[in-house]
Amino acid sequence: MSLLLKSYLSLFMLFQVLLALYSKLEIMGCEKGRVNPPRWRRIHRINGYIFIILFLVISYYCLFFLRAIPGEPSARALLHSLFAIGVISMLALKIFFVGRYKKFMRMVPAFGLTVFFLTLGMIATSGGYYFVTRAESPPDSQATAGKQTAPSYQANIEKGRQLFNKWCVACHDPASKQNRMGPGLKGILKAEKLPVSQRAATVDNIRRQLRTPYRLMPPQTHLGDEEVNHIIEFLKTI
Ligand code: HEC
Repeated sequence: MSLLLKSYLSLFMLFQVLLALYSKLEIMGCEKGRVNPPRWRRIHRINGYIFIILFLVISYYCLFFLRAIPGEPSARALLHSLFAIGVISMLALKIFFVGRYKKFMRMVPAFGLTVFFLTLGMIATSGGYYFVTRAESPPDSQATAGKQTAPSYQANIEKGRQLFNKWCVACHDPASKQNRMGPGLKGILKAEKLPVSQRAATVDNIRRQLRTPYRLMPPQTHLGDEEVNHIIEFLKTI
């Protein structure tokens, strides 16, 4: 699942919590006889189920992403995970209370509201961040157009391939331009521009991507300079 799809799905979840809030207000807040609460109750419930399914599907991909990150996740990723854990626990409690402990019924709206705010936090720290940084103008001015010429020894290319298979392949397909977590990298150094940032497709900019990545990719600072060179030699061949 690409990040873009994940981010659009999170926007849909934003719509869902708003709908959940609104339907709850309609159920609880209106004068008698004015609306049709059973209908809103049904909408509230079905909406909730779809939310949970989406949540689980997206979480699966997030865990995959988290596993592919070497070292500790970033502060934003941690915050996002915390919000997500909060959302699903509160939601589980809420459903449990409604189904089993009728006497706690009066606490349910507070739980619902908590789920609402936690979901806002969860979306803001992932999809929200993604859309805000996408809006920034990405091309950089200091990009150099010429490509570096480094000797490309077969052995180094092979080392590069192995390093790529170890550290990059979970998120990048070397054989196509299709998205995994990040864009497919086929022909990356033969193109004019890098696929996401639109910076010039130069060796320097790839190096920079590995040290201080553009946007969401985790930094690959665990790789030494020589290893980075090998990976670049390999990238030239795909
Ligand atoms: C955990 C997943 C992940 C890993 C591991 C990862 N990347 Fe990425 N990479 C991404 C994502 C996501 C993007 C797109 C950034 C965005 O959309 O915010 C990206 C973007 C890129 C880009 C394009 C940058 C641009 O300016 O357009 C290159 C090149 C790249 N990665 C190379 C690598 C290499 C080489 C490795 C291995 C050493 C690697 N990545 C490891 C997720 C990853």
